[in-house]
Amino acid sequence: MTSDAADRRRAVEEVDRSFVLEASAGTGKTNTLIERVLRLVLVAGPSGPPLRLASVAAITFTEKAAGEMKVRLRQEFERRAAASVPEAERARQALGDLETAAIQTIHAFAVGLLKARPVEAGLDPRFRAIDEAESELLFEEVWEAWLKRAIAERRGPIERALRGGMGLSDLRTLARILARQARAVRDLALDPPPSEAEVAARRAALLKEACEFERRITDRSDKLVPHFRAALQWLRTGPRTCASWSRSRPS
Ligand SMILES: Nc1ncnc2c1ncn2[C@@H]1O[C@H](COP(=O)(O)OP(=O)(O)OP(=O)(O)O)[C@@H](O)[C@H]1O
Ligand SMILES: [Mg+2]
Repeated sequence: MTSDAADRRRAVEEVDRSFVLEASAGTGKTNTLIERVLRLVLVAGPSGPPLRLASVAAITFTEKAAGEMKVRLRQEFERRAAASVPEAERARQALGDLETAAIQTIHAFAVGLLKARPVEAGLDPRFRAIDEAESELLFEEVWEAWLKRAIAERRGPIERALRGGMGLSDLRTLARILARQARAVRDLALDPPPSEAEVAARRAALLKEACEFERRITDRSDKLVPHFRAALQWLRTGPRTCASWSRSRPS
């Protein structure tokens, strides 16, 4: 057996230990996960006897993947339930459990856990998770109001960003990214931003280095040369905005 086939087989059959499968797109990861679930439910669980599907969690990131997984499992269970195989009875039981089983997205799974214990989680028991479209609308509502206030109050960072050449839509994009990554942002320990003098000194040092590089160019027809020159020009005139960099870049 090839080592690939052996690895796939271990990931399906060794149900008493955990695995991390890492492989390129379309190589059979989901397939392996489905085979493992089938094994757990129809053949053997970690401590011997098979598990009820209701006690298995198969978590995905997208609704589409969760849907596909459910469809595949249903097909496999139906095929076995109709056959005269020893696991037919287990397959029928699994079909009964399928709709309530935790074969779902990570968001749905998390909501399920929080719904089971809302008080302990400090949540209104009637809470619900918002979808992508609602999340966009909510962001828009909060962002517009906040931006108006921040501009009226002439808040430093906003004023500097606008003076530095960031447009309102750049700011919005940045805010959206920060909001999406709110948790990671909260955990970030950032150094304070460099002063203008520090930025200027770093730019001067870079420019000096780049000029030395320029003198060493031997093949002027090299395709990298125009890009290098554009970067040099950008360093000389001062990178005011990223937009000015992309405009000055040769296409
Ligand atoms: N061991 C295998 N041998 C041959 N074909 C396979 C094998 N495992 C899966 N396939 C087929 O390859 C295709 C992709 O499989 P699968 O969806 O499991 O891959 P994946 O790694 O989860 O893909 P993605 O990265 O898109 O999520 C499917 O058509 C599946 O039937
Ligand atoms: Mg997959």
